[in-house]
Amino acid sequence: MRTAVYPGSFDPITMGHMNIIERAAKVFDEVIIAVLVNSSKNPLFTIQERVEMVKQATSKIPHVKVETFSGLLVKYLEEKNINVIIKGLRAVTDFEYEYSMALMNKKLNHNIETFFMITEDKYAFLSSSKIKEIYRLGGRAPELLPDNIERILIEKIESAWK
Ligand code: PNS
Repeated sequence: MRTAVYPGSFDPITMGHMNIIERAAKVFDEVIIAVLVNSSKNPLFTIQERVEMVKQATSKIPHVKVETFSGLLVKYLEEKNINVIIKGLRAVTDFEYEYSMALMNKKLNHNIETFFMITEDKYAFLSSSKIKEIYRLGGRAPELLPDNIERILIEKIESAWK
């Protein structure tokens, strides 16, 4: 069975992530969405909230599992005996960062392969950070978020300001 890991912070999950997950789930027998616990990016949502949102958003996609990981991604893959990482590439600007990360992961474990999937053009400009900024500043872009996630995001931002 071919299993792949799709890692990320998912703070929160967006339609860009969903697009990659849906397409990856058609190629691999199983896709494990690995949510990073100790993100250095100072996440808006707790790890439990991020996992819950990813689970809700992906519950109808077959062959998808949601887990958490902390520390080195390569170690997590080794423990699970998995050797494929999936990454989405939005634009040339992602390339340099992803390229060095893929090479570094390969250096750490030569058996691990990173598979890049090109993000569909309608989501090429989308990131969790931009979404959070838009919503914090009162803007709305519901078509860029999975069902229910917009409501959770609005509630979170409103409660953070109380
Ligand atoms: O959604 P993100 O925040 O862009 O995802 C980044 C992520 C989680 C894939 C990356 O930060 C990661 O793999 N972190 C784990 C630590 C690690 O293995 N770093 C790579 C060293 S080359």
